[in-house]
Amino acid sequence: MDWIFVSALIGSGLLLPTAYAGIIGAPWAPTRIAVVKKAFDSVGISDKDLLIDLGCGDGKIMHEASRRGARTIGYELSPIMWVVTWLRTMMDKRSRVRFGNFFTASIPSDTTYIFMFLMPKHMQKVRSYIAKQPIHDATMIFSYAFPIQDIPPRMIYRAKKCAPLYMYSVKDIR
Ligand SMILES: C[S@@+](CC[C@H](N)C(=O)[O-])C[C@H]1O[C@@H](n2cnc3c(N)ncnc32)[C@H](O)[C@@H]1O
Repeated sequence: MDWIFVSALIGSGLLLPTAYAGIIGAPWAPTRIAVVKKAFDSVGISDKDLLIDLGCGDGKIMHEASRRGARTIGYELSPIMWVVTWLRTMMDKRSRVRFGNFFTASIPSDTTYIFMFLMPKHMQKVRSYIAKQPIHDATMIFSYAFPIQDIPPRMIYRAKKCAPLYMYSVKDIR
């Protein structure tokens, strides 16, 4: 009987936060990487940069920034995806993955890029969250697949078989 209770406890411990992340931000879905590579090459992400991924999923975006020399921090609320990113980044001194709800975290002031792939219905909440952070106006935001409503993007990156990648500056959304 005990093992049923323990399995149920572990199962719900893994699944409940994962489901919650899907409700308050977005469920996990992979970003198609070609458009991200194109954008990162175009802006010239380098070792001078710090990229934050709001809901880092499997850590693929962090890896793309890190292999260009940038430091990266990913926030992830799903324990399953957190473990995937932790395994992916454990040998990478430039990358850290933090378990938890990014809405309760403070974005470091030296952040130069923010990445997100979140549901359009949460975009206004994410916008006001980012706008209140102690970060520079010049920090750039990438939003995969969904634009921030009512704000004209500085750039829209496109690549074959990928959704568009919208780019904004923090100044634009404040
Ligand atoms: C659509 S996936 C994007 C993953 C990754 N950024 C990428 O582009 O490949 C969204 C991820 O955000 C996570 N997430 C959603 N809301 C979150 C929140 N409030 N705090 C932390 N993680 C969140 C989900 O668990 C999911 O892994």
